[in-house]
Amino acid sequence: MGRCCKCNGRLLCMCLLPCMMTGHLVIYIMVSIFVTISHFPPKITIHYIAPGISTNSAALAPHPVSPFWSLRLEDSAIWNQLQHAWDRQYNPILRGNTSGMMSKSKARLSTEIEDECLSNCMSRKCTVPRVHDEDNLPEQIREFIGSMHCREYPLLINQPNLCRNNFRIESPMLFMAIKSQVGNFENRQAIRETWGHSGLVKGESSKKWGLVRTVFLLGRQDSSTGPHPDLQNLLDLENQKYGDILQWDFRDTFFNLTLKDLLLWRWLQQYCPTPFFIFKGDDDVFVRTDALLDYLHKVREEHVLWRAYTNETDLNLFVGDLISNAMPNREPSAKYYIPESFYKGAYPPYTGGGGVVYSGSLALRLTEVSERVRLFPIDDVYLGMCLHRLGITPSHHPGFLTFDLSFTDKDNPCAYKSVLLVHRRSPKEMLLLWKQLQNLHSQC
Ligand SMILES: *[C@@H]1O[C@H](CO)[C@@H](O)[C@H](O)[C@H]1NC(C)=O
Ligand SMILES: *[C@@H]1O[C@H](CO)[C@@H](O)[C@H](O)[C@H]1NC(C)=O
Ligand SMILES: *[C@@H]1O[C@H](CO)[C@@H](O)[C@H](O)[C@H]1NC(C)=O
Repeated sequence: MGRCCKCNGRLLCMCLLPCMMTGHLVIYIMVSIFVTISHFPPKITIHYIAPGISTNSAALAPHPVSPFWSLRLEDSAIWNQLQHAWDRQYNPILRGNTSGMMSKSKARLSTEIEDECLSNCMSRKCTVPRVHDEDNLPEQIREFIGSMHCREYPLLINQPNLCRNNFRIESPMLFMAIKSQVGNFENRQAIRETWGHSGLVKGESSKKWGLVRTVFLLGRQDSSTGPHPDLQNLLDLENQKYGDILQWDFRDTFFNLTLKDLLLWRWLQQYCPTPFFIFKGDDDVFVRTDALLDYLHKVREEHVLWRAYTNETDLNLFVGDLISNAMPNREPSAKYYIPESFYKGAYPPYTGGGGVVYSGSLALRLTEVSERVRLFPIDDVYLGMCLHRLGITPSHHPGFLTFDLSFTDKDNPCAYKSVLLVHRRSPKEMLLLWKQLQNLHSQC
């Protein structure tokens, strides 16, 4: 009897348990539904309307008066405005649908005129940018603005075979392009006899040799500062003897120096397309070419190693004396004076001083990008602007001395051990220093 009671209880348990669980679940669901239904979100009482042109239809939201990004340049500086126009023109996103701003035909016409001006600067169609306070601008800025649309000038003296050996193109390890002026014969001769010697040059410490090719970049003698003796015949004779002069038909003034970079790049494309490295500098600097070659050999070897791991074939080297966060000089009497009505903003990082070294592959990229950067009167800054557009920051090398060694070190040969370039040496000083620095390696 007792046994049967037990089994009744178990049966009861097995029936009741699922019932109770289902009951709980139902209660839980009902409570949840009730809570959800009875909960109202708090009312937002502040009513916010975006600023803009409101429409009468309540179904449409007001549309903003202007886009949140600024497509229009507020600045009134000439360079910024001209550059801004090019940036828009070459930017596929901003370009988008220009019909809103300018009719298609008008846009096409202005590009055509622009193209024509690049190839034929003297064309009467070329519009020179209008300047508000023209009379307040210094003469050289006004002249610069008057010809800044122009970047092609014919060669007066060319060296088509400089990088050719029996009709085969040579690839110099170091192509040295030195900015000079017609009258600076003595500087050029001192450079030829010392650090700018063209040919196979031995590195300082290692036994490696490198092919060096040197040219001088010249414009036409500038007569705006007064009459001067005509040295063109002398220059022709000099060129007959040395064959290392490139001369273009533009006025060789300070604010025209950027042209030398652009024209050199064009020239390289055509006549010397594959140098490994390019040095560009002034004719009053002293370069320790052998030490520079050692440095460049090292850079190249490192790049070859690096290339084995990544597939980066381009070597983007650009070294010199780095200047960052520079602002334009606003002092009207300064040589580098850039008025605010011409350029606004800071300068990109750039390398200043007497010279820079960059890789040949970078020169090709600079040639391309320079077609989208308006000419700027200061050549070092212009290079910085082009590099900036390529996303490259020039590197600093402590061996490039824009400011000289200290007075006490100047005459001590051993102080030059870590120097690659030093600024301002007269032709005589170059010869003297050259002699002192022979066998520097064993002396110090
Ligand atoms: C540009 O705008 C015009 C007129 O507003 C329109 O007809 C055309 O389809 C647009 N083009 C593109 C690519 O959006
Ligand atoms: C640069 O050279 C061109 C061509 O000779 C000349 O018209 C222009 O005035 C020069 N610019 C400056 C700033 O000297
Ligand atoms: C480099 O390129 C080669 C051939 O083009 C390819 O086989 C290899 O996977 C690439 N390596 C890297 C790291 O991208």
